[in-house]
Amino acid sequence: MEGGSWPQTTGIGHTRWATHGEPSDLNAHPHTSTDGKIAVVHNGIIENYIPLKEKLIAQGHRFVSDTDTEVIAHLVSSNYKGDILEAVKETVKELQGSYSVAVLCQDEPDKLIAIRKNSPLIIGLGEGENFIASDIPAILKHTRTIYLLDNDEVAVLTKDDVKVYDELGKEVEKQSLKIDWDPGDAEKGGYDHFMLKEIHEQPRAIQDTLTGRITEDGEIKLDDIKLDKETLDNFDHIQIVACGTAYNAGMLGKQYIEKYARIPVEMEAASEYRYKNPIVSDKTLLIVLSQSGETADTLAAIDIAKKQGARVLAITNVVGSSIAREADDILYTNAGPEIAVASTKAYVTQVACMLLIALYMGELKGNVTKEEADEVLAALKESSDLIQRALDDADKIKDFAYEHFKNEDMYLIGRGEDYVTAMEGSLKIKEISYVHSESFPAGELKHGPIALIEDGTVVLAVATQENTFEKLLSNIKEVKARGAHVLAITSDDHPEIMTEVDQAFLIPKTNQVVAPIPAVVYLQLFAYYLAVARGCDVDKPKNLAKSVTVE
Ligand code: AGP
Repeated sequence: MEGGSWPQTTGIGHTRWATHGEPSDLNAHPHTSTDGKIAVVHNGIIENYIPLKEKLIAQGHRFVSDTDTEVIAHLVSSNYKGDILEAVKETVKELQGSYSVAVLCQDEPDKLIAIRKNSPLIIGLGEGENFIASDIPAILKHTRTIYLLDNDEVAVLTKDDVKVYDELGKEVEKQSLKIDWDPGDAEKGGYDHFMLKEIHEQPRAIQDTLTGRITEDGEIKLDDIKLDKETLDNFDHIQIVACGTAYNAGMLGKQYIEKYARIPVEMEAASEYRYKNPIVSDKTLLIVLSQSGETADTLAAIDIAKKQGARVLAITNVVGSSIAREADDILYTNAGPEIAVASTKAYVTQVACMLLIALYMGELKGNVTKEEADEVLAALKESSDLIQRALDDADKIKDFAYEHFKNEDMYLIGRGEDYVTAMEGSLKIKEISYVHSESFPAGELKHGPIALIEDGTVVLAVATQENTFEKLLSNIKEVKARGAHVLAITSDDHPEIMTEVDQAFLIPKTNQVVAPIPAVVYLQLFAYYLAVARGCDVDKPKNLAKSVTVE
């Protein structure tokens, strides 16, 4: 620093998700007050920033960015009378929206003030050092002991101390939480990208999901779910709500629950659910899925459903996350931290959780025999080996991706569970390789999409379901006849597919409800190698964030 060293040991930083103003140096955090004495970083959205900004400008504050965040710095500055904690408390009274904010003040350089409302924020407790972060992996290298800050709480951190106050200013005794994730989980461990590492972690992740949940005699034990038969019988329907990849896992969950428990299930994207005035009552079980446990749309859906009497069961990966705290019942996926923006191991573990829940409900309802459950559970336990087989085929998948990386459009087809796998594959391709891809139920091709198929079009066909295999084979022949280059994923009962397509992968025979788990791994790898071939930033795709904590 110009003028010599500055022995400051307190700092803040933030990778900004652009909500107001373009991504640029001026809009980058931290933002400061006009005199430069107050600096803030902020995750979330300040909804009333326009009137606040107008008021502050009228008072003489000079704004330099287009962000909503900058109003916080100016507001804290205008409320500062020599006590930064008091200034922040005053400021909070004027803020509307969702926020986790860290504030530094030049006159009190050893203090860091943190506030939170509907946006994730954790405090890491170290030796002679303390941290705040929006996500656990960020601090894993330094500490595994954390406090979870609750909505409307304010924390004051110094290097040796953390104090937390509630809305009324009363000091709160926080219980610390020990995170059992390995710090190495937040490192690439020799892989080129976190996504590739996490794809390869899937065999272990599935085992961790199942550990302790299937007893020696094949009983499903979901201790974190307190649903007994009487409670389950009280529900006349189930709603599943999630976003993105978690939505796709929920789609499989819907099929599993309807198959085994015979309870009608509605599936809805959380961003739609929250604005559609959903039909909810105390006879509704709402199941939400979320890797991060912090997705704003999913949290809003929970709020709406709870207010109308629904019971909420959450499947999430992050212990103590906001969704875990809002839910009545929780099933943790136990996948370990997922760092890459593209979700992989969270998906397969969510699918495994959905299958466990569906079987559990099916047994409570008396619709599933012990033999049937045993067979599915045995297949589920073996699914890590099947994933490993898919991983062993990585080079062949890479070759197909490298041959076709210049294609700008790709289509994925499947039926039933295979259609959901196609949906998830399509999402992976879009988000990390920026190739336009769409998934269709294969039977819908003839109703329109087949018009898109021409010489050289890439079609990825998922055909693991026995009852629809022949139908899907016909669809494959239809697209081949129009010049498509086809990669197919099927079971090793159908080697005949090899002569019909350009590349085929045969999954060793397994129960059909489990097949989506290994099947999706081929598509994850395909999307990964496609992105690498196209020179994309795999772990940090443009315009995307790992946790979508804003609307
Ligand atoms: C997955 O690859 C995506 N990055 C995204 O769709 C994600 O699944 C979605 O934003 C939901 O996140 P959540 O599971 O943390 O709620």
